[in-house]
Amino acid sequence: MTTAVAPDIDLADLSFWRRPPRERHEAFARLRQLEHPVFFEERRVPLLRSGRGFYALVRHSDVVEASRNAKVFSSEPAVTSPEPPGWVKHVFGESMVNMDDPRHARLRRIVSRAFSPKMLANLQGDIEKAATRIVDDVIAEGPRDFVTQVAARLPIHVICDMMGIPDDMRAKVHEHVDVSTAYTGVRPSLARSVRMAGQNMLALAALQRMVIKLGRERSESPQGDLVSALVTANVDGERLTWRELGSFFALLLVAGNETARNTMAHGVKLLTDNPEQRELLLSDFDAHIGGAIEEMVRYVSPIMQFRRTVTEDYDLRGLHLKPGDKVVLFYGSANRDETVFPDPDRFDITRTEVKQHVGFGGPGPHFCLGANLARQEIRTMYRELFTRLPGLRAQGEPELLLSNFDNSVRSQGFTF
Ligand code: HEM
Repeated sequence: MTTAVAPDIDLADLSFWRRPPRERHEAFARLRQLEHPVFFEERRVPLLRSGRGFYALVRHSDVVEASRNAKVFSSEPAVTSPEPPGWVKHVFGESMVNMDDPRHARLRRIVSRAFSPKMLANLQGDIEKAATRIVDDVIAEGPRDFVTQVAARLPIHVICDMMGIPDDMRAKVHEHVDVSTAYTGVRPSLARSVRMAGQNMLALAALQRMVIKLGRERSESPQGDLVSALVTANVDGERLTWRELGSFFALLLVAGNETARNTMAHGVKLLTDNPEQRELLLSDFDAHIGGAIEEMVRYVSPIMQFRRTVTEDYDLRGLHLKPGDKVVLFYGSANRDETVFPDPDRFDITRTEVKQHVGFGGPGPHFCLGANLARQEIRTMYRELFTRLPGLRAQGEPELLLSNFDNSVRSQGFTF
């Protein structure tokens, strides 16, 4: 059953995600005006199959309500849609993002020490050094593609630093991550999708084996890095199992790499297309960069949606949800909800209401663990770029990935 109210909008169809972003935002704006969340039937393409359809939550208040109420809106068996096949679940099976409490709370307790203010402060020197090297290289090479030369380099470097991945393993990590991120989202050809998804999973599995090997070594002779901390007991006597360690590393590489990179790339384009906002930012970087980053995350919504599965009968705005119903939280739409963000399509780094955005997820147990790290990376990278290259601007249009999941930029020309 598809909604009768907006029959030309089918969020489960590839053709919808092929439309230019402006048209998609207009479609979501129409959906937000409907009285009820909307029920869609998913296409029966084998790779996309996930049984019954899903409810689309497109309003800010509904996304917030579902995120807060994790007992009813479960993250198990998985938050991605469509339902991943068994072998994907095997790779990510022990990943906290796909778990409910108490298993989720235990993992979050163990790994959150990696994101404490003290750990993040310790990383700052490394992030600055990496940002300086990236700008050195850009100056030496000349501007070609902002994504490969700048945005893609910092987040992965930071994750390797955090985990204490030795230098001689990093080239291999980069190689596997390149393969694993070559496939995200939907693809026009099924055969190509299956092949790329297979390569993607093999690469992630190889990364997990690498970090597990490292974990075994560190459990015997711990050093001051995160892997050592995660495989030795914390004050409550808790530590990650080997499989959990592998899944956590894969999650960091998936959750913390493309997201930060896409925000930086889209951000440069947004600042170029809105010269008055760019000027304001550069007139007092420290005063405006915090608001600018939040506005970029709101406007871009690097992760466009995550899913929940209903565990018990629940009424949402008069709509009766039943156990097993799938609900997709469209962050990109919630972030343009005009009842919360006036004139939502305007990019404005001074918005006072911007803190209510759900780009890092709604309020609740799964709120992005890496939000402060992402802010720190973007702030540091932009400071280095705009201090040394104050004329930096995007050039031409970005090449976007066809995806219903991440708002990914494959390439973006630039100049300085
Ligand atoms: C702009 C950058 C980022 C965006 C937009 C983003 C977005 C999100 C979103 C929407 C969720 C919510 C998942 C849910 O509710 O099911 C999430 C969770 C998560 N993020 Fe981020 N993220 C970003 C950067 C990072 C970074 C840099 C890291 C770490 C290096 C990271 C690690 C995580 C982890 C571990 C979770 C799972 C938390 C849990 O299930 O308890 N993220 N992120």
